[in-house]
Amino acid sequence: MLTIYALIGVVTIHLGSTARILGIVPTPSYSHQVVFQPLFRELSLRGHNVTTITTHPIKDPALTNLTEIDLHFSYETWQKGVVANIFDYSTNPIGSTIKMMASVLEILEQQLSHQSVQEFLNSKQEFDLVIIEASGCVMHAFIAKYKCPFIHMLSYDAPSVTYQEIGNPIHPVLYPHDFYSFYEHLPFLYRLTSVITDYLFKIMVEYAYSYQDKLVSKYFGPNYPPLKEIMENVSMLFVNTDPVFYKVRAHVPAVIQIGSGTHIKPPRPLPKDLQRELDGAKNGFIYLSLGSNAQSMNMPIETRNIILETFAELPYKVLWKFESENLPNKPENVLISKWLPQQDILRHPNIKLFITQGGMQSSEEALYNGVPIIGVPIFGDQFGNIGKMVHKGMGLSIDFDDLNKKEFQEKILEVIQNPKYRNKVKELAELAKDQPSTGLERAVWWSEYVIRHKGAKHLRSPLLDIPWYQYLLLDVLAVLLVILAIFLFILYKVVRYLFCLIRCRYVYVDPEKKRQ
Ligand SMILES: *[C@@H]1O[C@H](CO)[C@@H](O)[C@H](O)[C@H]1NC(C)=O
Ligand SMILES: *[C@@H]1O[C@H](CO)[C@@H](O)[C@H](O)[C@H]1NC(C)=O
Ligand SMILES: *[C@@H]1O[C@H](CO)[C@@H](O)[C@H](O)[C@H]1NC(C)=O
Repeated sequence: MLTIYALIGVVTIHLGSTARILGIVPTPSYSHQVVFQPLFRELSLRGHNVTTITTHPIKDPALTNLTEIDLHFSYETWQKGVVANIFDYSTNPIGSTIKMMASVLEILEQQLSHQSVQEFLNSKQEFDLVIIEASGCVMHAFIAKYKCPFIHMLSYDAPSVTYQEIGNPIHPVLYPHDFYSFYEHLPFLYRLTSVITDYLFKIMVEYAYSYQDKLVSKYFGPNYPPLKEIMENVSMLFVNTDPVFYKVRAHVPAVIQIGSGTHIKPPRPLPKDLQRELDGAKNGFIYLSLGSNAQSMNMPIETRNIILETFAELPYKVLWKFESENLPNKPENVLISKWLPQQDILRHPNIKLFITQGGMQSSEEALYNGVPIIGVPIFGDQFGNIGKMVHKGMGLSIDFDDLNKKEFQEKILEVIQNPKYRNKVKELAELAKDQPSTGLERAVWWSEYVIRHKGAKHLRSPLLDIPWYQYLLLDVLAVLLVILAIFLFILYKVVRYLFCLIRCRYVYVDPEKKRQ
């Protein structure tokens, strides 16, 4: 509902002049794209000439001011390099991350060499603003090409490196990387690992920049500034977070939190046969989906069988997003389908539980529809998202690699039968929806603000212009330490002198006495 009102609100306020906007979202993953789509749609409806380079075009002919360069072909490499190996992530996180990075670089190169992008690169265009996903950084060369301000945007919370680029304070213990499960107070080993990982991540990003600089000269030509320098000119950062679901955090004015279920669509009727099945679930139903990247059909067979055996003994219907028609040993009460309208399923009154991998969008959909969860995080930010939801009391989590029927069943029954989980989600949903404006409204307003003022230099964080040793107070601490040392030294001398006075007298007097 929030989103519908937002759309009406945003559309009716019209802007005097229109601008040329370039949107770049290179990651071939629906969950990365889905938050950007409403923004590009809205900006084009407001009369701006919007061009996007995206792996997931909206393809709506009614949007006459929106031109989309379709990079959907990138899904093929993503499927082979990332999706097919996703269940290895928990057993081999470093190897999987390296493989994933290699796939991403391969995809970026395929995209840049693609005819549609090459034609666009060689056409004469000008832009007033670039809105770009804060990853896949070789694409940032477009910003240098058009010499215009740019906004970073992410469909999830930004890693420390991205916050650092805009001068937002970071802290590896208060705000650890999302790869860690969420803990209110990190135990010492986690704190240590978090600090080290932050630095390793920074080194990795530096390396990625220097590697991608070579791609820039290959595809854009010579005389381009290093990517690292381009990043330093970022005007704003839109992150898909909010203070209810995420830890409360101080942000500089150039960081805008746009989380409010921006991607959530108005309700639509379910397909007839699905509606009949769900209406007929007298005891209620459980919905299981692992999202678009972690596909259930690729999961290990033993895990799949444990899940099926668990479901077979439950008094509930189970709806499972399963990407193949063939599921051996499927019990009577389990329905499978390759594609399911998730948002409308979560709105069905008979839903009891959502078993989710904890992707950002799925988490928001659970929250906004008041459905308790069991989390089975598989990779990336999912561990952090599920950790947060469990910590907040929205449900429980299970370890996918160590799945056993007894525990799985107990947790399912606990979350369904104990009303505290559902009540908690409802309470959090009320809080999350209670905002003065929607995330989409904020994103549109600040985008036009950057266009109006040709950047946002006056919002530049002072953190960017202060040497690191001054920020960490190292010089001040050093001087204080020296003063303290001098003071202690003098104190020591004085005490020793006084002590000596007494002792020396004794020492002096004593031999005299002896001689006598
Ligand atoms: C396209 O932009 C023009 C102004 O440039 C605006 O008047 C028109 O309503 C826009 N059309 C659509 C369908 O967004
Ligand atoms: C809008 O942008 C597209 C692609 O960049 C361009 O071909 C078109 O001429 C532009 N339209 C207007 C009205 O400026
Ligand atoms: C950063 O912005 C300034 C001022 O707009 C511009 O002169 C400079 O070329 C930009 N730097 C890069 C690397 O794009």
